[in-house]
Amino acid sequence: MSAHHEKIAHLQEYPPQTPQPNIYPLGWPAGPGKLEEIWASAQKELWDPAKLAWTTFNPAKYTWEQREAIGYWWTLLSVFDASAPPVFATAFVKTYENHEDDVVRRCFLSVTRDEQVHEQMCRLSVAAVLEHEDPLTYQPRTELGLRLQKNVRWLFYNGGRYWEAYKHAVPNYDLAVLFSSFLMGEIAAATIFHQMAARCTEPVFQEAFRRIGRDEGRHMGICMALMERDYPRLDVSRHALITKQIRAGYLFLSAVLFEPPAEFWDLPEDFIGTQREAEQIARQAGFAIPDYEEKRENWRRAMLNLKGVLDRYGIPFPAIPEVGITGEEVTDVDLKDVVPVF
Ligand SMILES: [Fe+2]
Ligand SMILES: [Fe+2]
Repeated sequence: MSAHHEKIAHLQEYPPQTPQPNIYPLGWPAGPGKLEEIWASAQKELWDPAKLAWTTFNPAKYTWEQREAIGYWWTLLSVFDASAPPVFATAFVKTYENHEDDVVRRCFLSVTRDEQVHEQMCRLSVAAVLEHEDPLTYQPRTELGLRLQKNVRWLFYNGGRYWEAYKHAVPNYDLAVLFSSFLMGEIAAATIFHQMAARCTEPVFQEAFRRIGRDEGRHMGICMALMERDYPRLDVSRHALITKQIRAGYLFLSAVLFEPPAEFWDLPEDFIGTQREAEQIARQAGFAIPDYEEKRENWRRAMLNLKGVLDRYGIPFPAIPEVGITGEEVTDVDLKDVVPVF
C-alpha cells in the first residue's frame, strides 16, 4: 500500500466522514453505573505479584517431586493465563473500533491488565519452585518431572492451536457474543481460586489466589453488566451462536477446571494419568488442587450459574452431559469456534 495521501483540505471546508468501523472514537459516551463501580475497584485492587511475601517461601521444604508437581500446575494455569492478555487486548481494541462506552473501554483495559498480573504470578511461581525461568527448557529432576514435561509440551501445542482459532474467530463475533464466552471462564475461575485460597497452606500462594479470585469476580461483574445492557435487545438469530460458544468454552476450559475432553484436546493417552498423579502429590504438599469430584461439582455449579443468566434472556443452554447438565445437543463444535478464555 502506498503511503501517498491526496491532499483535500484546500478543496473543501470540512473533511468527509471517516469510514466506520474506525478505531478512533473521539468521544466518551457514559456507560452503566455498575461498570464505573467495578472500574473504581479495579484501580484500587491492582496488585503486583513481585511484591508478595516471597521471602516466606522456602522451596527447600518440598521434595523435588512436589516442586515439579506444583510447578506443573502453575504451568497448566499459565497455558490459559498467558493467552488471556492478548485475548483481552484484542477485545479491548474491538471496544475502540465499536466506539463502546468509555467505561466499557476502561473495564476491558483493566481485565487485560489483571490477566497480565495473573500471568506474572505464574511466571514467578514457576521460577520459585523449579528454580528455572520456564517449564519448557527446565531440566526435570525426577522421573515424574520428565513425564510432566511431556504433558507441558502437549499443553503448549494445544494452546497454540487455540490462539490460531481465536485470531480467526474474533473478527467474526461481536462483543455481545464474546461476553457470554468470557463470562463462563470468569465464573469458573472465581470459584476455583477462592477455593484454593481457602485451602492452600503456603502463604504466598494463598494470598495470590485470594487476589486472583477477587480479580476474576470483577471480570465476572463486567460481563454480567454488559449482558444486562445488551441481551434484552439481542437478536434471536444470535442465540444459536452463543449456545455453541458455551459448549466450545466448556471443552476448552475443562483442561484446567476439570479434565481435558478428547473432543477438543489432542493429548497422548498417558496425559491424564500423569496429571492426576502430580495433582495428588501437590495436594499432599498442601497445594490444594480440587480433586476429580470437587472439580466436577465446581464446574457443574459454574455452568448452572451461567445457565441461569442465559435463561433470563431465553438463550438455549448446550447439553453438558459430562457434568450432568441437559440441554441443547451441540455436536459440531470445531476448533475455529473457540473463543472463551480464563
Ligand atoms: Fe485470570
Ligand atoms: Fe479473568
